[in-house]
Amino acid sequence: MRSESHSRGSAVIPRVRILTGEPRDGAHGLVPAERSGARALQAPEREAIFDIRELSVSYEGSPALTGVSMRIERGLITAVIGPSGCGKSTFLRCLNRMNDSVRGFTLTGSVRYHGHDVYGAGVDPVEVRRRIGMVFQRPNPLPKSIYDNVAWAPRNLKMKARLEERVERSLRAAALWEEVKDRLGKSALGLSGGQQQRLCIARAMAIEPDVLLLDEPASALDPVASASIEELLHTLKHRYTIVIVTHNMQQAARIADRTAFFSLASSGELRAGTLVEYNDTEEIFTRPRDPRTGDYVTGRFG
Ligand SMILES: Nc1ncnc2c1ncn2[C@@H]1O[C@H](COP(=O)(O)OP(=O)(O)OP(=O)(O)O)[C@@H](O)[C@H]1O
Ligand SMILES: [Mg+2]
Repeated sequence: MRSESHSRGSAVIPRVRILTGEPRDGAHGLVPAERSGARALQAPEREAIFDIRELSVSYEGSPALTGVSMRIERGLITAVIGPSGCGKSTFLRCLNRMNDSVRGFTLTGSVRYHGHDVYGAGVDPVEVRRRIGMVFQRPNPLPKSIYDNVAWAPRNLKMKARLEERVERSLRAAALWEEVKDRLGKSALGLSGGQQQRLCIARAMAIEPDVLLLDEPASALDPVASASIEELLHTLKHRYTIVIVTHNMQQAARIADRTAFFSLASSGELRAGTLVEYNDTEEIFTRPRDPRTGDYVTGRFG
């Protein structure tokens, strides 16, 4: 990606401070520092990994998401919650251009990653996905050995030096090494669901991305396997910026630093997903500013 857009993008990221106990402007819950007043805390200003502005998406002309603006900050776990069909997966997939091949997909607005326009002319989607890895709802190991699953992307990207070390490192980081070190040559399809999902996380990490996007990674797992994925995400957040879609409110409350609540809004006859509220997770769950958020997190809706 081009470096000139880096400086251009960085320049437009607003400086923000986080307020406590006062109403916040805008859906993103962050107030420009110059307007934040005397009660502003000296909260650290984190770097925005993603700066998303007025993102709208349609499939075959039907709107799926409208007017989403938010910053996703470095080194945090950001949860995306909301009722089915409100565009959570669509949003996540816009961050690493996973929707590109979907027929009839159109996008307006901008997604900046470290200041680079992800959809800018000349940006290579493969390079985007190298930096921004993704894990899906259903574990999807390749019908290959455990080793080859993890080695697959590095081999394709010509990252073949010290491959064995890389595979071991990724499996250790995914808390799977001890369980599979004696069966690396065996089929990945023989692993349990929870192990397969950790293998998919290891596979995503093998090419050392900067961001991990996870779309309901634990929803197909039993509570024990789900808990081990949560534990794993806790350990990974020091190295990665993580964005996770989840339907599980307790999971979001337990693991996420920030939470974005999306919902469906009507405009005439059309209904499309929109960002209702984005804030520290604790605020979203204990002091939501928008009644729609309160209704959702307390189970009255959705
Ligand atoms: N590939 C696609 N082609 C056409 N429409 C799509 C496609 N993917 C999603 N949509 C539509 O976009 C809207 C948002 O879908 P999306 O899958 O992003 O929602 P979601 O919030 O992830 O839902 P869920 O919680 O059920 O996973 C829906 O109306 C859906 O039908
Ligand atoms: Mg989804």
